[in-house]
Amino acid sequence: MKVFVLNGPNLGRLGKREPDVYGSTTHEDLAELCVKTGGELGLDVEVRQTDHEGELVGWLHEAADGGFPVVLNAGAWTHYSIAVRDAAAQLTAPLIELHISNVHKREEFRHHSVLSDIATAVIAGLGVPGYPLALRWLAENAR
Ligand code: DQA
Repeated sequence: MKVFVLNGPNLGRLGKREPDVYGSTTHEDLAELCVKTGGELGLDVEVRQTDHEGELVGWLHEAADGGFPVVLNAGAWTHYSIAVRDAAAQLTAPLIELHISNVHKREEFRHHSVLSDIATAVIAGLGVPGYPLALRWLAENAR
């Protein structure tokens, strides 16, 4: 089964970006971990990152058309992008909303997500290890 792991703005800077909040793992390491875990689980995982909202919207359309699940860390767009929400709402397979940090422990503006009510599940605060957990759940529960 094909699975998209889609990461939004500033996540390409993982490892350098506020390491006290997001840890020291780089995006390249994150991608490698997801592909490796996916391989062990029999998933064909593709990891993408963008700082451009329209690009993410296009990738969500691709997942909707392909009928495959998405692990989505939309970064800051999580909190306000109706365009990302409307694209994610077109998915027919499970959508896992993921945040590396526990957004609920942070600034008030991070407490609201425009995605959570259309997501199958939300993972927040487990760091990068949240990604393989999401993939494991998909391998066992999505079809
Ligand atoms: C984030 C949390 C968001 O509030 C923030 O804008 C990010 C990353 C996380 O993974 O914890 O860019 O989605």
